[in-house]
Amino acid sequence: MNSKIVILAGDGIGPEIMDSGLTVLAAIKAQCSHEFTIEKQPFGGAGIDDAGASLPEATLAACQTADAILLGAIGGPKWEKMTDTPEKGLLALRKALNLFANIRPVSVSSALLHLSPLKPEIIEGTDLIIVRELSSGIYFGEPRELGETMAFDTARYQKSEIKRILHAAFTIAQGRSKKVTSVDKANVLASSKLWRATAEEVAKDYPDCQLEHQYVDSAAMKLIQNPKAFDVIVTENLFGDILSDEASVLPGSLGVLPSASHSSDGPSLYEPIHGSAPDIAGKGIANPISMILSVAMMLRQSFQEEAAAAAIEAACDTVLKQGVFTSDLGGQASTTEFTDAVVKELTKK
Ligand code: NAI
Ligand code: MG
Repeated sequence: MNSKIVILAGDGIGPEIMDSGLTVLAAIKAQCSHEFTIEKQPFGGAGIDDAGASLPEATLAACQTADAILLGAIGGPKWEKMTDTPEKGLLALRKALNLFANIRPVSVSSALLHLSPLKPEIIEGTDLIIVRELSSGIYFGEPRELGETMAFDTARYQKSEIKRILHAAFTIAQGRSKKVTSVDKANVLASSKLWRATAEEVAKDYPDCQLEHQYVDSAAMKLIQNPKAFDVIVTENLFGDILSDEASVLPGSLGVLPSASHSSDGPSLYEPIHGSAPDIAGKGIANPISMILSVAMMLRQSFQEEAAAAAIEAACDTVLKQGVFTSDLGGQASTTEFTDAVVKELTKK
């Protein structure tokens, strides 16, 4: 079967790590039953520069007919003050494709145990998934206004939006430890009160699963204090954004965490959880693991290529265990050196 993957390399380190992801995909493709057609499209800052819009119409059209989308990262100081920004393009793409369920797995390889700023005994065995609502909440809510002396945003949720992300979280939990932690701020926010009540309602459909509620402030503390207490964390857009960057401290770097974003019918999008890292862009030192593992998630979740996905994950782990680290993890390997080491593992006879 021939499948179309749309590539949105984006800005900053986006194109650098996308090269790594595509190199790894090329190395594994002989082991896949799908054939892949790769179609590159301008997006984000690169979309503004090359095609006059952060989300050019042709890019959106290509994504809508794709079987899966791979995104590097977007954004950077160059476009910050423009009316159209790379971030607007990303939000518009998520909305247009109805990508409401952002799945962010966090686990800690034994090779990273001593690289995290946290104690090894605290992080050892960490294996959790953050299910972040991606298409609503304060990032999208209207009205919003930025004035000289006053500004506001709106954290708005429809019950139907809360329900569908809760269903996604419980479905994932059923294949794991059957425990869901719903994170909100129901002691203060109206949107969170509806969230909590809806979570209770949805939980009734999953009698084999356990639901617990936590306020986001204490969840932020517990995530670092005892990450093993979590399995599936489900939360709204802003809280999920913040908690998943926090969770990157567990494995030791933002550069190792992939994600998948799903809609209920269209193509899924796979991307690292981090941004375009302008501070290290162009230096060839970005950690490509987040992108390589996003490729693995794509192969598993969009193409059911479980063996290929597992082989990529195992190869990354083996390379880490060989002591090959990029500088974010205290090593000296370049993006290309790390990628080449992964390819070498994958193509070993
Ligand atoms: P960031 O995630 O780009 O970087 C935060 C820190 O982590 C930086 O010190 C960076 O060097 C480091 N880092 C991130 N990824 C890394 C990797 N693969 N290897 C090594 N180190 C890595 O967040 P920041 O600096 O706040 O934002 C930069 C730009 O990215 C902004 O324009 C922001 O809007 C955008 N952004 C885009 C996202 C996306 O494309 N999905 C998500 C988050 C931010
Ligand atoms: Mg973020």
